Amino acid sequence: MKKMLRIMSLLFVIAAVIFAAGCAEKGGEGAAEGAAEENAPVGETSNTGGNASTEEMPTYIVGTEAQFPPFEIVDSKGNVIGFDVDLMNAIAEDQGFKVQYLDQDFAGLIPALQTGNIDIIASGMTISDEREEQVDFSEPYITAGLALAVPVDNEEIKSIDDLKGKTVSVQTGSTGFIKAEELKKAGVIAEIKDFPHVNEAIEEVKIGGADAMINDLPVTEAFIAAQPGVIKIVGEPLNSESYGFAVRTGNTELLQKINTGLENVKSSGKYDELLTNLPKYMEE
Ligand code: ARG
Repeated sequence: MKKMLRIMSLLFVIAAVIFAAGCAEKGGEGAAEGAAEENAPVGETSNTGGNASTEEMPTYIVGTEAQFPPFEIVDSKGNVIGFDVDLMNAIAEDQGFKVQYLDQDFAGLIPALQTGNIDIIASGMTISDEREEQVDFSEPYITAGLALAVPVDNEEIKSIDDLKGKTVSVQTGSTGFIKAEELKKAGVIAEIKDFPHVNEAIEEVKIGGADAMINDLPVTEAFIAAQPGVIKIVGEPLNSESYGFAVRTGNTELLQKINTGLENVKSSGKYDELLTNLPKYMEE
């Protein structure tokens, strides 16, 4: 909870600055370890950690849906940047591996991991029991939660208790989507409209195609900071969720590297430094 508060206060700082979240959608073929260079995924990032020569370092392809500020966005040069990227890069440097980022739809990340197109998911992905059946998660690296947002001028919907008969927009495959499905099954909301990207879910609310949106709180705040006067967050956060990095089930070697790296990055103070660096993405 403390961490949450820290993130929240950071996001207030961020709120003062404008985002330039690029919209490069360069999904497609990824590559498992070894074939990385030929595929030139978007946001290629190299790490030269430790003393090992880069020749000897394995390269892992990191899948992400990079329209999710401040965790992952595409900058004006087409590079994937954001907190998840910084953290993953720091872990890679600590553990002596290289990473390349591949931007693709969120709902396709787990299948891409399973088929070997990517090696790691770093995409603000919430650790859940259902997903644990399909992938292996690292230790949690940050806490967030879902929030409800409505048009700025809406005075009717003040919390999820006011969603009876309403249409709600969400990102496809997200925990917001799962929450909306629960609310629909419970006979609360009438219709769900899902979109590959959060900005499209917001757009749907903006044009009146949906009454509300359910999405990760810090991300909705980031979009509001970038584009004030469109939507507002109402009510309390709907829950608390922890983000983790994911690897293929049974890939214990890589999972071990990520967990050890994460621990080292936290104990060295680097993690806290990265948190305070968050606003720099907003100046891109
Ligand atoms: N935390 C939510 C989930 O795991 C949403 C994550 C969406 N991430 C993204 N990069 N679009 O379902």
